[in-house]
Amino acid sequence: DASDIEKGTYPHYMLKEIDEQPFVIRNIIKQYQNEEGNLKLDDDIRGAMKDADRIYIVACGTSYNAGLVGKQLIENMANIPVEVHIASEFVYNMPLLSKKPLFIFISQSGETADSRAVLVEVKRLGHKALTITNVPGSTLSREADHTLHLYAGPEIAVASTKAYTAQIAVLAILAVDTARAQGIELDFNPLQELAIVANAMETLTDQKETMERVAQEYLSVTRNAFFIGRAVDYFVCLEGSLKLKEISYIQAEGFAGGELKHGTIALIEEGTPVIALATQEHVNLSIRGNVKEVAARGADTCVISTEATKDEGDRIVLPEVHEYLTPLVSVVPLQLLAYYAALHRDCDVDKPRNLAKSVTVE
Ligand code: G6P
Repeated sequence: DASDIEKGTYPHYMLKEIDEQPFVIRNIIKQYQNEEGNLKLDDDIRGAMKDADRIYIVACGTSYNAGLVGKQLIENMANIPVEVHIASEFVYNMPLLSKKPLFIFISQSGETADSRAVLVEVKRLGHKALTITNVPGSTLSREADHTLHLYAGPEIAVASTKAYTAQIAVLAILAVDTARAQGIELDFNPLQELAIVANAMETLTDQKETMERVAQEYLSVTRNAFFIGRAVDYFVCLEGSLKLKEISYIQAEGFAGGELKHGTIALIEEGTPVIALATQEHVNLSIRGNVKEVAARGADTCVISTEATKDEGDRIVLPEVHEYLTPLVSVVPLQLLAYYAALHRDCDVDKPRNLAKSVTVE
């Protein structure tokens, strides 16, 4: 029962759940490992992935944002095309389905009505479905053909944090397993790389004072804020901006760096906070260019980079992890910035207005 879960010494569930992320990642490593220390995954799931000629990820909210990262992981490693769909839009804008589709439902609660409606429809059409969820025995888990568990422990705060990182970790494991099943050789050991991620997350959750200071500096009085990034950083920007708007009520948007010039740069005014993720070496020059463009128009820029991409003046430098897994690390400061922004604006961090943890109506 959710009410039995103690906050312990934490003032809010959200902060506790952010801090739990390294343990969740280590638990996932344990759960998806066999006695020989190799990746362990259900043969039926491996078969379903291998048989699919296209994967359709369906989800809502934060789980949708995790799906965007999952698409990249599966396409890059397992070489299967993936589409990501917002559940509530799926029936109106139904994609043309491939000959052998596999549906992946990502849902922390496993009870989201919008996602369930799609599951019911695809089952009616006779397709196979895999649910990735934090709640074994949930509706989406029971009604799908297969389930992968997140092992994140109960998530109480309405704003999802540890479920997002757990979803990406499990999607990475699924991508690797699918690649191997197809004989694709990868220079990537997910269990080892996730262990490095867990340590990196800890380094960041140990820097709360820095995160609080940055939140106060950029987000204490502003009405809006923008997150910019390219490549996978863009997807993490969508999640970072969702976190911020959910709990601090700051109007926050995530933009693709290259798209700024096509309209959104018009929003930049003197003092507009722009948080830029620059974790990807292959787009570092271009995102740095975007930072200069918005700074020249008066934006207060805050760059978050990595050891490999850092530059003088960057506010937060993330520990190095495998490039496939940077979202697991880059999202942590964004979660903490949202938390401290909400805290300093006297918002109800764990129970933001108008939102529910699990939305069981369409
Ligand atoms: C609600 C929550 C979000 C969550 C979304 C999907 O809107 O407030 O935090 O991301 O539902 O939930 P699910 O349980 O399906 O992942």
